[in-house]
Amino acid sequence: MSVLITNIGELTTQDTDAAVLRGAAVVLEGERVSWIGPAAAAPAADEAYDAGGRAGLPGWVDSHTHLVFAGDRTTEFEARMAGQEYAAGGIAVTVRATRAAGDYDLMRLLLARVAEAAAGGTTYLETKTGYGLDVAHEARSARLAAGAVDEVTYLGAHLVPEGWDADAYTDLVAGPMLDAVLPHVRWADVFCETGAFTRDQSRHVLEACAAAGLGLRVHGNQLGPGDGVALAVEFGAASVDHVNHLSEGDVEALAGTWTGFAGDGTPGTVATCLPACDLSTRQPFPPARRLLDAGVQVALASNCNPGTSYTSSMGFCVATAVLQMGLTVHEAVRAATYGGALALRRHTGDDADGRRAVGSLAVGHRADLQLLDAPSATHLAYRPGMPLVHAVWKAGRRVR
Ligand code: NIG
Repeated sequence: MSVLITNIGELTTQDTDAAVLRGAAVVLEGERVSWIGPAAAAPAADEAYDAGGRAGLPGWVDSHTHLVFAGDRTTEFEARMAGQEYAAGGIAVTVRATRAAGDYDLMRLLLARVAEAAAGGTTYLETKTGYGLDVAHEARSARLAAGAVDEVTYLGAHLVPEGWDADAYTDLVAGPMLDAVLPHVRWADVFCETGAFTRDQSRHVLEACAAAGLGLRVHGNQLGPGDGVALAVEFGAASVDHVNHLSEGDVEALAGTWTGFAGDGTPGTVATCLPACDLSTRQPFPPARRLLDAGVQVALASNCNPGTSYTSSMGFCVATAVLQMGLTVHEAVRAATYGGALALRRHTGDDADGRRAVGSLAVGHRADLQLLDAPSATHLAYRPGMPLVHAVWKAGRRVR
């Protein structure tokens, strides 16, 4: 089954740094892109869809979310807006609600959030465990997530749960809990921050997870300067996320991981920025402009979670990155597509597991595409907050 999407006003492929085609068409064949070029030269297909001059771009790759949860933290949000600082303690509230939810209810909540993200143009989605925080509940979160999203990350090291000694809990995370989640996850993450896990505890978790064959990610430098970035670089993590409080040394260390990378070869550590979270926690935005200028690959992600960022709108993140963080529209869209794919190591196809590249549009890549009710991607920032997503294809299947 093939679909010709024709009459695309402006097509941003992200295949190369600046690729924008005007008057373009794309053919989706099964789950892959089989042709891209000028509309006038497009081959025939089983079905045709007239984009009516709308802008086209890859579906969003949201590389950082926490969608497996129950409960609500409106009261905490209200207190924060009245001046209380965010200090991560609210995670325990969500842990209690999540443990109390049955499997069916938790899956229903998760699937509703996945559907909401897809309606907003997200076609590739990562999510984390981290609201179970005991062996059985972390394993359950991982299992449910594996049935609902594209990539699952183990975040047993999200917070030391009530009643635990921090080192004893870290041993559990690096031992029996890791064994229990392993069949369901591809990634491991650790919240390396004052009030969460120290550098040594984070190192212990990262070492065990790497030895178990998981790819690594780190929550780092969110609430203040810290060791997260340095650890992520030391361990060759695919991404360090939040990155609000960076020293010049942190920026240089991240930049060093990208030396010589030109789209192929081994990628370095992506700096994943989470602007919706920064607004909700009133943290300074990360120095994304500085990171890009230093040669660091940047991703934008929603960080959808009940505490610090209860939105999965990648369009909102793109608009905020442009309006508040000094990125151009093209850079922000790239960070929310190709950048996310780099952070999940899905920017190229993988013959070993038969996966196709996501986050950019080229022949052979996964057919993940969105059309905007706008003539150009610039409208994402020019008309912030407007529901601009017109149509979405995920792996060649129309999902909106
Ligand atoms: O990415 N930083 C740690 N984890 C989440 C917050 C989770 C919560 O407060 O429930 C974050 O912001």
